[in-house]
Amino acid sequence: MSRMTDKVVLITGAGAGMGRSHAVRLAEEGADIIAVDLPGEVGEQGLAETSRLVQALGRSIVTATADVRDHGALDDAVATGVARLGSVDVIVANAGICETPGPSWTIDEEVWNRAIDINLTGAWNTVKAGVAALSAAGGSVIIISSTAGISGAAGRSQYSASKHAVVGLARTLANELGRQSIRVNTVHPGAVGTDMVLNPETFARLRPDLVAPTAADAAEVLRANTLLPVPWVESVDVSNAVLFLASDESRYVTGLQMVVDAGQTQKVA
Ligand SMILES: NC(=O)c1ccc[n+]([C@@H]2O[C@H](COP(=O)([O-])OP(=O)(O)OC[C@H]3O[C@@H](n4cnc5c(N)ncnc54)[C@H](O)[C@@H]3O)[C@@H](O)[C@H]2O)c1
Repeated sequence: MSRMTDKVVLITGAGAGMGRSHAVRLAEEGADIIAVDLPGEVGEQGLAETSRLVQALGRSIVTATADVRDHGALDDAVATGVARLGSVDVIVANAGICETPGPSWTIDEEVWNRAIDINLTGAWNTVKAGVAALSAAGGSVIIISSTAGISGAAGRSQYSASKHAVVGLARTLANELGRQSIRVNTVHPGAVGTDMVLNPETFARLRPDLVAPTAADAAEVLRANTLLPVPWVESVDVSNAVLFLASDESRYVTGLQMVVDAGQTQKVA
């Protein structure tokens, strides 16, 4: 419980799924957390639960609501966090959405723009808001991409394009910030057991042959995509990658695309 002692970590999308998992896993290792999620009841309730879990570990947490598309709101969230916790050492740009609207040429402009605005511009906004607060000792920026940021994803090109684009952002930031001892890396999960994948719409898309498919039915399809005998990885597996990149154990690692996908991107058909 010492790999992140007294480091302050800014995490977006921290009210659910992997964002909450990152907050808890890093707090287990001694980090304090600035947790951001969407304004509104769902975001606030999610942040309250993340707050409870982090505090139960004896660590401090500041929660703030901000849509990552709103740079001013993110600035305010960071200012509130820094006023309480002192500085920022690590930025985890995690908030994101994934829709499956269909072939590229059929996608509505609104759906396209939503993915770019949240997944790409939101990550850029998060880094902009956080970098100024990074401590003089340097820091670590981690942007959550996807296996869809390594290869194409038929039926969701707006998602794949946004997740490829954050790699360009991260590689550029790594060049711009390296001399200040700030490292910038991306993490690329395959399917992860969060609500983004484990929902009735996804089950129905994966198993059009069934009337009311379950997670177990969907797992049969997803297991065929991986090398290791699992259909998806768990949030904590991705959090452990984030932990490595956040901690000083990775002090000379920058510009990396770290894949956590049970072998999905290496599978030979
Ligand atoms: N679940 C997967 O299989 C998977 C795979 C690869 C990559 N990812 C990526 O990992 C990240 C986290 O995904 P997850 O599975 O935990 O998703 P999730 O849907 O479980 O949680 C996402 C969180 O982000 C928040 N959020 C969404 N839009 C936001 C916005 N505009 N501003 C602020 N917060 C916002 C949501 O309220 C929610 O709390 C995303 O960037 C996603 O694209 C997920």
